[in-house]
Amino acid sequence: MKNTKVISVITEKGGVGKTTTSYNLGCALGNAGSKVLLIDLDKQGNLSSSSGYILSDGKRTISDVIYNAATGYQNDYESVIRHSENNPNVDYIPAGYMLNASNSIIASSSNCNFVLRSILEDEFFNRYDYIIIDNKTDLDLLAQNALNATHYVIIPLDAGIHSFDAVDNMMAKIKSLANTTNPRLKILGILENKVDLTSTSKEIDSACREIYGSLVFDTRIPSRPEQINRTVKFCTGCVNLKGNTLADTYRALAVEVIKRSGV
Ligand SMILES: Nc1ncnc2c1ncn2[C@@H]1O[C@H](COP(=O)(O)OP(=O)(O)O)[C@@H](O)[C@H]1O
Ligand SMILES: [Mg+2]
Repeated sequence: MKNTKVISVITEKGGVGKTTTSYNLGCALGNAGSKVLLIDLDKQGNLSSSSGYILSDGKRTISDVIYNAATGYQNDYESVIRHSENNPNVDYIPAGYMLNASNSIIASSSNCNFVLRSILEDEFFNRYDYIIIDNKTDLDLLAQNALNATHYVIIPLDAGIHSFDAVDNMMAKIKSLANTTNPRLKILGILENKVDLTSTSKEIDSACREIYGSLVFDTRIPSRPEQINRTVKFCTGCVNLKGNTLADTYRALAVEVIKRSGV
């Protein structure tokens, strides 16, 4: 993991855009010339299906990789990597249906805080500039493993009433892990998603910048349900879809991410 930056997209609030951000940021970074690996850590598998994964293609998934690492079996990483058809620089490892068992498998390992980290430290992963982990909503042992394998966290935020609570909880969690199991853990940025022209959206933006200052990305992602749905339907990120006005927004986000992560 020499120069590879591991980014976790995570927050305890569901539906705010963790998966959409992971996928479109990954595609935008790939489009800008970085080699990117997306890891789907949510059993729902939305990142996997967005990337073109066909359920049960017979190949191994992230749950197999975690099982092997936690129980001392050798992993064949090449066999678990899928190549994104529409994004030549983007690979992915899909979520498996056994992912909900991963918590107990990890818990039984003597290395229970660092199973995912031990995986990503294999030299196989040095080929990637960025590894982006799409997390689910619970901060369980699997999510803690992801955070212990992470350099930088992106916290998406939408204009909901509980948005700031979720950000505050995440920041407290990150601080506690940075003080204990992962001193290199940093917040890369808070990302405003599903931004619209309502006064609520504007109020959230001002409050967010007042509270969190420069931690908030300059780039804000507008609410464009149809464009997001088309990227999922055609298994291609916004940056690769003609006529997608979100493309420039995700390009701008990728530029900020590259700058903030120092690659
Ligand atoms: N910028 C956006 N504009 C419109 N719809 C969005 C946007 N970002 C996410 N969505 C939609 O919101 C829903 C939840 O997004 P998702 O990325 O799955 O959230 P999470 O992974 O945090 O649960 C999905 O239906 C997704 O298509
Ligand atoms: Mg998700």
